[in-house]
Amino acid sequence: MMIEDIRPLAVVTGASSGIGYELARLAAEDGYDLIIAADERAIFEAKAALEQHGVMVEALEVDLSTTEGVDRLVGVIGGRPVDALMANAGRGLGRGFLDQDWADVRFVIDTNVTGTVYLIQQVVREMREQDRGRVLITGSIAGLMPGSFQAVYNGTKAFLDSFAWALRNELKDTGVTVSCLMPGPTDTEFFERADMMDTKVGTDPKKADPADVAKTGYHAMQKGEGDVVAGFKNKLQAAMAAVTPESVLAEQHRKMAEPGTAKTDTQTYQKPLG
Ligand SMILES: NC(=O)c1ccc[n+]([C@@H]2O[C@H](COP(=O)([O-])OP(=O)(O)OC[C@H]3O[C@@H](n4cnc5c(N)ncnc54)[C@H](OP(=O)(O)O)[C@@H]3O)[C@@H](O)[C@H]2O)c1
Repeated sequence: MMIEDIRPLAVVTGASSGIGYELARLAAEDGYDLIIAADERAIFEAKAALEQHGVMVEALEVDLSTTEGVDRLVGVIGGRPVDALMANAGRGLGRGFLDQDWADVRFVIDTNVTGTVYLIQQVVREMREQDRGRVLITGSIAGLMPGSFQAVYNGTKAFLDSFAWALRNELKDTGVTVSCLMPGPTDTEFFERADMMDTKVGTDPKKADPADVAKTGYHAMQKGEGDVVAGFKNKLQAAMAAVTPESVLAEQHRKMAEPGTAKTDTQTYQKPLG
């Protein structure tokens, strides 16, 4: 028997940096072989680092916003039973909706929603066949509130937060569990990539450590929990969101995500643009 047949297999998307890299690291520490994917060459640096844990790592540079990209990843899995799927790849997008480029909007929806659910359908069909498997979807507490100045992104996360619970229910009589990790603001490349470094949330110096966030999600997945909000402050915010009118939440989101809300060096807020 070959060594890769012995160890469990985890598939982690968006594993080149941030929360996804940390999820992959936890799986490697637990002795999972890994298939990791991201859209840039940094995924090969992640592969080299993860191999230090003595597991086999296959890395794929692929755009998971496309059907072809997801098909390539499924091809690399090649029918091997997947013990854990961590569908984590995702993108933010700041600024007012009408000021965003359509191509960027489309990319966020296609990555966060279309590519993610397509991958999940492909992999989890196999898990259902095997009657076992763990799925972790990286949603967000952003899905609990209308995201003024990040409207499309929050919408994609609302989709995932909801989808995770629905799929979990559909699979309740099987050995497959679906968990949703709901981080709050986390110190990754996310905000820079989303063009949000002139916002209060983007420049918040107290963001969570991605290693801690990943640990929370990974353990929830291993225990088969339904969802988990990472961090006490975010738990409070999630609880408040459930009892706060949408109009109030949208206004609160504006205050942290509108361009120009970043703190300046003199600790005063800039006047919001526009
Ligand atoms: N940071 C936060 O505050 C926060 C809060 C709540 C939820 N989240 C969610 O956490 C997840 C991970 O984000 P992060 O904060 O760790 O940010 P990150 O460091 O930017 O990581 C995002 C990962 O997703 C990959 N990715 C993005 N678009 C892709 C595509 N089209 N195809 C393949 N890979 C793609 C990136 O790879 P490339 O570099 O190759 O594109 C990268 O590996 C996302 O789903 C995000 O929405 C983040």
